[in-house]
Amino acid sequence: MNPKKVTVIGAGNVGAEVANQIICRELADVVLIDKLGDYAKGKALDILTSASLKNSSSSIIGTDSYNLTKNSDIIIITAGFPRKPGMSREELVEANGNIIAEIVNNIKLLSPDSIIIMVTNPLDIMTYLAYKISGFKSEKVIGMAGVLDTARFKTFIAEELGVTANNINAMVLGGHGNEMVPIIDSVTVSGIPLKQMISPEITEKIIERTRKGGAEIVSLLKIGSAYYAPAASAVEMTEAIIKNKKSVMPAAALLNGEYGIHDIYMGVPVVIGEGGAEKVIEFNLSEKDFEKLLNSANIVRQTISKLEESMSIVK
Ligand code: NAI
Ligand code: 2OP
Repeated sequence: MNPKKVTVIGAGNVGAEVANQIICRELADVVLIDKLGDYAKGKALDILTSASLKNSSSSIIGTDSYNLTKNSDIIIITAGFPRKPGMSREELVEANGNIIAEIVNNIKLLSPDSIIIMVTNPLDIMTYLAYKISGFKSEKVIGMAGVLDTARFKTFIAEELGVTANNINAMVLGGHGNEMVPIIDSVTVSGIPLKQMISPEITEKIIERTRKGGAEIVSLLKIGSAYYAPAASAVEMTEAIIKNKKSVMPAAALLNGEYGIHDIYMGVPVVIGEGGAEKVIEFNLSEKDFEKLLNSANIVRQTISKLEESMSIVK
């Protein structure tokens, strides 16, 4: 069987680590592209050398030209500015909006049948922009954030309980911002409801730390933002598509009335398989969480409006 072709756009911290993990796990052949001259070529050569030590037979090419990306099966977009300490993700909307517009115009010409996984922030808005510009079916444009936010949520719960994170079943929904919604009611620890194991006060602290998990890392790093866990999250989604795993994951998907929300991308549970975000799963939320989800949707909508003021394409 021919290996799948994955293009990773942006060879910075997240993009290079995404490419590295795809190659190490032999999921696909990779084209790594960056606008910075030979930068992606250097990263690709380093990753290829590392692959030889890990007995991976997957190939990787670095480039600054879109020609080599032709007919990709999956495109992972990580190009754009990360935030600086004190900045919100929403403040990146105009600068990254222009970058995403240019990139998606290239993708739709060269890889019209691909599935796009967006990583660039502000995530939900950039995913929506890619959907609008590409003209692709909505299930073929997906945003990565919920897998990462959920991994953070699980990690903090596990740390509190002194257990390993793979015992925790949990989900974070909503937009990828400070108003994201960790769904505490449905968290279980190997089947035991979390609410029976920790106090509401500790639960609140974990929710708050999850919401600010990205900012905590930005303030520690001082330069740039998180990339190991973001890359691992994007690769989990990529694997689910390549292997048609039908995995249920939180991801930014287009909402057409699900959860009472229309025409925005936002984090909800979706089934991920070879068709992309094949199905949005709806379930009953508590009144409190439902209100929080609507609040998060409003923030996403406001940021789309901000982008609309500067770019006619999203109107
Ligand atoms: P980085 O600064 O390390 O890398 C960005 C790369 O994009 C640079 O190498 C740059 O040259 C390249 N680039 C810029 N414009 C380009 C264009 N037009 N075409 C091709 N390449 C271009 O940043 P990092 O840490 O890799 O983050 C990338 C983006 O991902 C940021 O917007 C960040 O906020 C976002 N992010 C989102 C996460 C999520 O959960 N959705 C998690 C982590 C990061
Ligand atoms: C994060 O949550 C930067 O959005 C990215 O780490």
